[in-house]
Amino acid sequence: VPGKLRVGLIGCGYISFQHGPAWRASEDAELVAVCDQDEGRAGARAAEWGVGAVYRDAAEMIERERLDAIDVVTRPQTHTALVGLGASRGVHLLCQKPLAPTLDGARAMVETCERAGVRFMVAEMWRHLPWWRDLRGQVEAGAIGEPYHLRVVGARRAMRREAPVNENQPYFAAMPKLIVYEMMIHWIDPARYVLGEVETVYARMRRVNPAIVGEDWALVVLTHAGRATSQLDGSWANDAEPPGATREGDVVLEGTEGVLHFAPHERELRVVKLGGETSVLARYPEMAESFQRAFDGCIGDFANAVRTGRAFESSAEDNLKTLGATFAAYESARTGEVVRAESM
Ligand SMILES: NC(=O)c1ccc[n+]([C@@H]2O[C@H](COP(=O)([O-])OP(=O)(O)OC[C@H]3O[C@@H](n4cnc5c(N)ncnc54)[C@H](O)[C@@H]3O)[C@@H](O)[C@H]2O)c1
Repeated sequence: VPGKLRVGLIGCGYISFQHGPAWRASEDAELVAVCDQDEGRAGARAAEWGVGAVYRDAAEMIERERLDAIDVVTRPQTHTALVGLGASRGVHLLCQKPLAPTLDGARAMVETCERAGVRFMVAEMWRHLPWWRDLRGQVEAGAIGEPYHLRVVGARRAMRREAPVNENQPYFAAMPKLIVYEMMIHWIDPARYVLGEVETVYARMRRVNPAIVGEDWALVVLTHAGRATSQLDGSWANDAEPPGATREGDVVLEGTEGVLHFAPHERELRVVKLGGETSVLARYPEMAESFQRAFDGCIGDFANAVRTGRAFESSAEDNLKTLGATFAAYESARTGEVVRAESM
């Protein structure tokens, strides 16, 4: 595409507030229209972001605005229809995670876009968080020898035990798959990014909060390419963080020559060598800013890759592996067995 991409955004709900500024930060794209079934929401976002065109209907937006790409920022059960619509009109597609409620559905979306000749990426921004990029960079630079174990322990922050269970995302209450599908998928993806492809998945899950349908506690164990393991431990069932503490998880990556530790309360990445010698490798003073930078990095990657024709960092095809490991966790929790990711 010679000029800046003309982009339309569909879905002006909670997480859209990070997409608008990220589009503005991109030099390769311009957000020219926004769409939401709730026109008031779309109008409010358009005013906030200085976008001129507001629609209730996505098909009408695509037809009238001569778009090059659309950003699908709706919930997963609507993704297949909206991605299919975009592909049928020949526009490139960026879509929020989780891509679809089933792996077969997600695979079909990838095939639809391939047949239509449009580019298709998942807005998986977690691996763009600066500490995950720094973790991978340090591993590549040999800071800890050969990595063999990743441990992510999510911050313990309870959902409310009555409606709304979550202020920003009250729909959590009715989701049959919750903390792994909605949140821990964001750890599975950078675990792949740092340690390579997932071979097997073992998981235990539990619903603790009586006001919800899905699981709010989970332990997921991954093996990567036979050489490393990941232990992902998440809970939205209890409060065990100091007041005002960050919501980010504690990340420890062990290698044969030392340990990398992202310490969220201290907002820093450390390397600890055998014997305990510790140095701070990076600091991330503003967590909110780190998150916006991750959205900027992810959306910027989409816009630049579409414009220049290069590969995406998190193509939809690549993201099928993250989604497959996510569904494998549910299969493991259901059966009590270790599940091979490739069997999904
Ligand atoms: N860190 C992250 O990357 C992150 C964080 C939160 C949510 N999410 C993901 O983002 C997605 C959206 O979450 P949310 O909390 O913003 O949801 P939301 O329900 O707050 O917003 C979705 C919006 O889409 C609109 N919509 C739905 N179908 C539409 C259609 N066909 N045409 C036009 N508008 C339509 C709805 O009216 C609503 O305003 C989810 O898949 C969620 O998992 C990602």
